[in-house]
Amino acid sequence: MTHSLSELITSLAPDAIAVRHHLHAHPELSNEEEQTSKFVAERLTALGVDTLRTGVGGHGVVAEIRGNQIQTGQTLALRADMDALPIQELSSLPYCSTKPGVMHACGHDGHTATLLGTAAALTQLRGEFTGTVRLIFQPAEEGVQGATRMCLAGVMDGVDRVVALHGWPGLAIGKIGTKPGAMMASSDTFDLVIRGKGAHAAQPHNSVDPIVIAAHLVTALQTISSREVSPTEAVVVTIAQIHAGTAYNVIPTEAVLKGTVRCLTNELREQIPVRIEAIAKNLCAAFRADCELTYRWGTKPTVNDESVNALIEQIGQEALGEGSVLRLLAPSMGAEDFAAYLDYAPGCMFRLGVGEEVTNLHTPTYNFSDGAVSVGMEMFTRIALKTLTSERAA
Ligand code: NI
Repeated sequence: MTHSLSELITSLAPDAIAVRHHLHAHPELSNEEEQTSKFVAERLTALGVDTLRTGVGGHGVVAEIRGNQIQTGQTLALRADMDALPIQELSSLPYCSTKPGVMHACGHDGHTATLLGTAAALTQLRGEFTGTVRLIFQPAEEGVQGATRMCLAGVMDGVDRVVALHGWPGLAIGKIGTKPGAMMASSDTFDLVIRGKGAHAAQPHNSVDPIVIAAHLVTALQTISSREVSPTEAVVVTIAQIHAGTAYNVIPTEAVLKGTVRCLTNELREQIPVRIEAIAKNLCAAFRADCELTYRWGTKPTVNDESVNALIEQIGQEALGEGSVLRLLAPSMGAEDFAAYLDYAPGCMFRLGVGEEVTNLHTPTYNFSDGAVSVGMEMFTRIALKTLTSERAA
């Protein structure tokens, strides 16, 4: 069985790699994944999946492959994201992006191709598992809440476990990175408008200068992480934009600060906007100004289930060999909307090595490696077989 599974994956990998090249050449931005979605649905239909839904939560596609005893078996969801980024690709790849200013710089072409390749394997292995594999092809991962929309459309109904992978540069092909518990941070954004009083720049005493107040506020907000949260607990409060003023000789009436907040727990996350607002209101009052905070809740922290993570580590050791599973020492303060699925069922995201030389995610030369596709297919397929076979007695 082990031998024949590897052989099956090897035989299916060239087609999955060709799929990746096609997707890489035809990237689509978040919420515009019309052709990608159509392509995925056509491939799934050709494979003979048992159910297929399109137009889920936007351009999402959801399919099921049913094994034995679906009445008593469990349901495992495997998720891939499909969207690309607004970056001009700088490469000489024969399958370089054909769309100016748009490219698969986060490797979602690789994720989608890997899951389609997994679907090809599992449709041939129906006799080997008990229950249902649900394949989730998600649109709009890049900061636009595609996962939340998919969940609201019911894609997690009846799901017992959910698993996803993300291609990871700096990690060798054939290796995976895992972490129980918090793996990625939450990501929220805020706008803080400081309202003062404009004046001639040569008469500052006639103003309530919002730029001076903004400068104080940038500094004051850093005390949330340095003086209010334990040094052993991670939080980021970054002011990423300051907008104010139009001339050399005018003190403006308003200044706007924009930033992001990252946390690893929901408990801490809920406290941060309360403190931002209190510091901002009181500091502005001290300087005779007003302010208004608009806080947008984004993605929750991605917290991997301990037992699902342990299962993936075990499968990784068995399939890829000793030393191929690297336990991450620390979570990333980046965010991933996979977190939304984890509200509905325990699950896990793991990192899939795409090569040590590969450039960083979200850069104009990033390319998910061909060699990683079969590794991802093998991991996904084995996770399905293992989770849905061990439950047979239940
Ligand atoms: Ni990504």
